[in-house]
Amino acid sequence: MKDWTNYQNKTYGDDVCKLLIEFLDNYKIDNAIDLGCGSGNESVYMVKNGIKVLAIDRQLNKDFILNRLSDDEKKLISFKEGSFENIELPKTQLLTAFFSIPFCNPNNFDELWTKIYNSIEDNGYFVGQLFGDRDAWIVVDSINTFPIDKVKEYLKKFKIIKLEEVEYVRESDNKKWHFYDIIAQKKVGDKHE
Ligand SMILES: C[S@@+](CC[C@H](N)C(=O)[O-])C[C@H]1O[C@@H](n2cnc3c(N)ncnc32)[C@H](O)[C@@H]1O
Repeated sequence: MKDWTNYQNKTYGDDVCKLLIEFLDNYKIDNAIDLGCGSGNESVYMVKNGIKVLAIDRQLNKDFILNRLSDDEKKLISFKEGSFENIELPKTQLLTAFFSIPFCNPNNFDELWTKIYNSIEDNGYFVGQLFGDRDAWIVVDSINTFPIDKVKEYLKKFKIIKLEEVEYVRESDNKKWHFYDIIAQKKVGDKHE
């Protein structure tokens, strides 16, 4: 099992994911699940915007979130330590997954996606990223990468608000990135098979 401690330490206090800012600038929600919250920058941002947040991670670092919140803001945050592979997700208006669920065991990804779909309330939203098939990690069996058609299939029962491919080579280490920025709304009344 990969240890995410270094990553979480390194990203603590980083800029909030632009995709989340874009979403919150345009849509109003009261509660959210931040799945794979990491160092918690997005959870903290949502709480500071008055949103009740359930922060979930297998390597949960509550202090990274709590130490940035006032006593009143702390009333809006709750935590769950758990793995994508066997997590139970309550109902939510918004489920965010920033660079997190691609790290679910691929054998469990479809089941996780169904749980995500079922946890989102009617007319609620999914906001996050999936990795594409031109990412360097396509050769890593433990990481989920998908061609665009497969992503569209996962989003079949959503209204796609944004599905944008991002592709570049990171200068610092030459790593090839290819991922999809996703904002999608669950359509009313549909059930996911
Ligand atoms: C790349 S980090 C992203 C963290 C944060 N969302 C961000 O954007 O900075 C991935 C996070 O997912 C968590 N994670 C990875 N695999 C997991 C799993 N199978 N179950 C639960 N959490 C997992 C890690 O602990 C880590 O915090």
